[in-house]
Amino acid sequence: MNGSLSFGNEILVLDEVTSTNLYVQKLAIDTNLIEGYVVRAKVQTNGKGQRGNVWITEPYKNLTFSLVLKPNLAVSEQFMLSKVVALGIADFLASLSLTEVNIKWPNDIWVNNKKVAGILIENTLKTNKISVSVVGIGLNVNQLEFGENLNATSLQNELNINFDIEALLNDLLICLEKRYLMLRALQYQKINTDYLANLLGYNTELNYKVGGKQYKGIVKGVSSLGLLQLEIEGKLNEFDLKEVSLVKF
Ligand code: BTN
Repeated sequence: MNGSLSFGNEILVLDEVTSTNLYVQKLAIDTNLIEGYVVRAKVQTNGKGQRGNVWITEPYKNLTFSLVLKPNLAVSEQFMLSKVVALGIADFLASLSLTEVNIKWPNDIWVNNKKVAGILIENTLKTNKISVSVVGIGLNVNQLEFGENLNATSLQNELNINFDIEALLNDLLICLEKRYLMLRALQYQKINTDYLANLLGYNTELNYKVGGKQYKGIVKGVSSLGLLQLEIEGKLNEFDLKEVSLVKF
């Protein structure tokens, strides 16, 4: 067990790339990338988001990077990785004195009920285990305007500070590494408790859309496979991302 991995010991900064995730995946085909290796792009022209969406981000204003991990986790445990990455970002945001920081299931990061960061984890499997994981993170930093329907914000919008993006990356990597080491140390219970403590709607009634209808629901947890456990009208249901959405509030 390696006690210290030093995320970001090697950081490649690209002026422009289509997608840092794609870049790292291609690089990993014939290069043995070290765990903790980071590729950051100042401009990302065709960033990948969850569910096949594009991640659109203003050039030079935001943090877009991919981190290489080798968690050697069973495929059935892959959501643990999502949890530690989300927690690392949430810890980092809390360290900036932001108060209303939440993880919006499965792993969006919200501040004051708006999305400030997104995570896209793409895994390579070897005999039912995750051998290489490309953890892509987009954090809105100094961008001031977002499309009206996006419900997004940035650090500058929330804190009125123009941030040094490179310095932010170093601090964020420290937070990510701390949480990742908890995973490597098999501290699953603590990770689960902390994830739920940060999860938007946990034990709180909010409105959700399921099958085109709106319901009041209470998040009770997340299954080991990452399904949302939502209590609706006294009954516990498990949903995947396509089946349920939080109604904007
Ligand atoms: C989401 O849809 O919320 C996930 C967005 C992930 C975006 C990041 S930006 C850096 C990395 N490279 C990509 O192409 N996507 C991720």
